[in-house]
Amino acid sequence: MSIRTLTTPLCNLLGISVPILQAGMGGVAYAPLAAAVTNAGGLGALGGIDMTPEEFDGEIRRFRSLSDGPLCVDLGFPSRAPTAPGDVAMPAVAPAPIRQLYAELEKLGVPIEEVAEQAIGTVDNQAKLVIAIEHGVEVLACALGTPEDVTARCHANGMVVMSVVGRASNARRAINNGTDVVVVQGFEGGGHTGDVGLLTLLAEVLEFSTVPVVAAGGISRGCQIAAALIAGAEGAWVGTRFLATAESGAEEGFKEAVVEAPPDATIRSTLFDGLPVRQLRNRFTDVWHGHEDEVQSYPVQRMLTAPIRYTAARHGLKEYMNLAAGQSSGMVDDLPGAAEVLERLVDETVTALRDGPRRIGLGR
Ligand SMILES: Cc1cc2nc3c(=O)[nH]c(=O)nc-3n(C[C@H](O)[C@H](O)[C@H](O)COP(=O)(O)O)c2cc1C
Repeated sequence: MSIRTLTTPLCNLLGISVPILQAGMGGVAYAPLAAAVTNAGGLGALGGIDMTPEEFDGEIRRFRSLSDGPLCVDLGFPSRAPTAPGDVAMPAVAPAPIRQLYAELEKLGVPIEEVAEQAIGTVDNQAKLVIAIEHGVEVLACALGTPEDVTARCHANGMVVMSVVGRASNARRAINNGTDVVVVQGFEGGGHTGDVGLLTLLAEVLEFSTVPVVAAGGISRGCQIAAALIAGAEGAWVGTRFLATAESGAEEGFKEAVVEAPPDATIRSTLFDGLPVRQLRNRFTDVWHGHEDEVQSYPVQRMLTAPIRYTAARHGLKEYMNLAAGQSSGMVDDLPGAAEVLERLVDETVTALRDGPRRIGLGR
């Protein structure tokens, strides 16, 4: 299996193939973004974790109406998932920062909406896998674990499986469970992320991997992709840079926050859902200072923060949203179309690969 078969010749300049995969991002990666990327020669992805099965089905249909090319869907099969959100035992009294955030939103005159948190139930996750198979989706990306039965079902239906991992031991487990591609996400990356930097994690996993390895985390320039390709990666999985595009489904306030973010604006914390996530600092994160011991484990924290996150997103209140973003947000300063992002990344990668050897004195 080569991931080059999933991207088209548009990514092939000067005979150098630069496979660029747009990352699955919950609340961001819907059909318009995925189709724009696939149509421009990359591999587009839907962030399916946050969708209901009905919404997921609709987004796949919408993608098919916008593109004839391959589609990746991103789903989660965490081992600690309950059967359904209703099975999760919630604390009798919410942590003080949660109560504080509710009070602040109420003071702003914003009614808090209770929401069904879609990301966690095994019943819905399995239903979405069935829908993807029925639609003949080409690629499944799994973060938060790649169960063996999931890879087996995908392979029986001709689907390629990619596993996004933040540590070498998880890469090993995903390979043992039959994954076709490992995406190593460095500490720099937006959303769920481990604590090892990309170059180290990439080198570690390449030492033992029997499947292609793709680099992720903090990538917003072609020179970073060139470095990863030279190190042995077969492509790049890019999130935050595609978040800030015209076709991205992120709220306008979220896109603005990424474009305006200075370097060092992100933190890595468990405040979103109890698992380590990189996000932009804002009131949603600052309110926990001094209350770190009240952060709940997964998935309780995710369910406690859901009404705040969803209400804030609906009302464009970026200080109260969960602004998942990678360290590259300090370098993202415009909102072009996704095809232009892809073109820039490929051009920059090819330039770096072409000029790099000469710059360090190799060749003429
Ligand atoms: C806003 C946002 C939402 C994300 N949502 C998900 C998700 O639902 N599922 C998932 O597996 N990864 C998710 N990720 C992680 C991405 O798939 C990807 O690994 C990451 O964005 C790569 O790092 P970068 O953002 O620095 O390019 C998300 C990332 C961002 C920025």
